[in-house]
Amino acid sequence: MNGIKIRGTGRGLPGRLVTNRDLENIVDTSDDWIVSRTGIRTRRYCAPGETLSGLAASAARRALEDAGVSPAEIGACIVATLSADTLVPAAACLLQRELDLPPDIPCFDLNAACTGFLFALHTMECLLNASPRKFGLVVGAENLSRLINWEDRGTCILFGDGAGAAVVECREGWPSISAVTGCHGNDALLRVPGAGTGERSLISMEGTRVFKFAVEAVPWCMDQVLKKSGRTAAEVDFFVFHQANARIIDLAVRKYRIPPEKYYKNIAEYGNTSAASIPLVLSELREQGRIGPGSRVLAVGFGGGLTWGGCLIEFA
Ligand code: ACO
Repeated sequence: MNGIKIRGTGRGLPGRLVTNRDLENIVDTSDDWIVSRTGIRTRRYCAPGETLSGLAASAARRALEDAGVSPAEIGACIVATLSADTLVPAAACLLQRELDLPPDIPCFDLNAACTGFLFALHTMECLLNASPRKFGLVVGAENLSRLINWEDRGTCILFGDGAGAAVVECREGWPSISAVTGCHGNDALLRVPGAGTGERSLISMEGTRVFKFAVEAVPWCMDQVLKKSGRTAAEVDFFVFHQANARIIDLAVRKYRIPPEKYYKNIAEYGNTSAASIPLVLSELREQGRIGPGSRVLAVGFGGGLTWGGCLIEFA
């Protein structure tokens, strides 16, 4: 199978900035607690009139521009999300219309919670191998502020809205991204009920147990991706972690002895943006010039499902 590389990245962020102090006025919490337990200082929420589709479109437009690729060259479009504006049409279908992507390509949403963007990269690699068009659009977008349970101080402080996008290219001879994906069907630890359950569609989570799962899943995924790709950690230029909790990232960094210049945290600014978190990091790093053509990035994520995933992806 031919591999994919990232050609361009972009992000779309909503306008409403919410600080920990703002949350102190809503629930019994404190800036100190939130910062010390999670690393989060602010997050962004969609303001009235802002939509997930709008965020996804801004991120995707920027990624296409960064890649120098036109919408007509796109062979597939996947939006990883658990919080699309509508279940049908999928956010990816609305993006197809908004960006004028070709009509004869697959455009669909993918829900693997916080691991969604990595599942989508893996899926995109498979799709582009079977497509005459060699570029793909992968977006991670969330409007989680709509799903927050304001009666649960353990979860309401964690989440934020945003979108990140990557334009990828598939070429003969390029190495596969060595994706590792998996899930344990578990509807107890992390849950957002949908239509048909009779429950309110709000996020509930057993945070401490998910934390324990994550602390094991992250290094396990890293090991599996390195093994599959035949690379060592020293050959990785940058490690990109799902931004769920700064302490989870710190533990992985310590275990692998990753130097500070090789990983990045933006959780302080955005909170946990689920499927958007990894592409948001990629887009910021690219803008800062810390990753670019030739960079080899190991990305790893975990989340509801419970799902986990990782891949080793290069920049074209
Ligand atoms: N402010 C103040 N106190 C709080 C708050 C709050 N916002 N929330 C909980 N507390 C209290 C609790 O009531 C508890 O008090 P008690 O000891 O008197 O009972 C105490 O703080 C400790 O609570 P814990 O839940 O044990 O805190 P923990 O250290 O586990 O941190 C957290 C909670 C931040 C949620 C952590 O467990 C975590 O980050 N888990 C992983 C989350 C994650 O990665 N999710 C996956 C992705 S999400 C997705 O896929 C959509």
